[in-house]
Amino acid sequence: MKKINIAVMISGTGTNLQALIDKIHNKDTGGSIELVISNNENAYGLVRAQNSGIRTAVINKNQYDSALQYEEAFVDILEKSGINLIVLAGYLAFVPDKILEIYKNRIISIHPSLIPAFCGEGFYGEKVHQGAINRGVKVSGATVHFVNEVVDGGPIIIQKCVNVDFDDTVESLQKKVLEIEHEILPLAVKLFIEDKIKVIDNRVKILCHSETDNIDGACEESGF
Ligand code: GRF
Repeated sequence: MKKINIAVMISGTGTNLQALIDKIHNKDTGGSIELVISNNENAYGLVRAQNSGIRTAVINKNQYDSALQYEEAFVDILEKSGINLIVLAGYLAFVPDKILEIYKNRIISIHPSLIPAFCGEGFYGEKVHQGAINRGVKVSGATVHFVNEVVDGGPIIIQKCVNVDFDDTVESLQKKVLEIEHEILPLAVKLFIEDKIKVIDNRVKILCHSETDNIDGACEESGF
């Protein structure tokens, strides 16, 4: 299996990063997290990376004189690290256009709702779960998708549901959803490493070994 060098981009706590470290990083999966990038120097995810001996970098557009310099510095660090796959794990900044172009269908992100519900500009963090509760939906969930130029608009790779109970609060729903995020994000990365994800006409087909394979089966098999 070809080794896949991964860059994970974060802005905050980094529990999804931790799930990737625990389930993918140097675990005979073929995937290695070579770099963790944050736009926020105080992100706790940077500490998680350092605790696991993973190189970190803080890149924020305010550090640069122009958008072009920012974009060039960003591309440079990814290319120098030989990155094949980028994972956005709670990254609250825009990815420069040049990176979207170079890494087309090689940038994976996680969103804490069932896209296309409660997604797009303005839907981040607690606002997503508040939206679900206000609307009274009975199920919510998480979506792993490829990233393109439309916010939360790229091809969907995996979705998984959670029930929303009448008594759920933003906090309790966020907790339930985070649990499944920690399953399906590493699973999507594993499928990417195994070259089992094909994008056809903006939709994703997961290539399975047999008719009986399915995402839940792959989840159990991987212990995710
Ligand atoms: C997650 O809910 C993710 O879906 C969203 O941002 C949050 C990041 O959480 N994009 P963490 O930093 O991984 O704990």
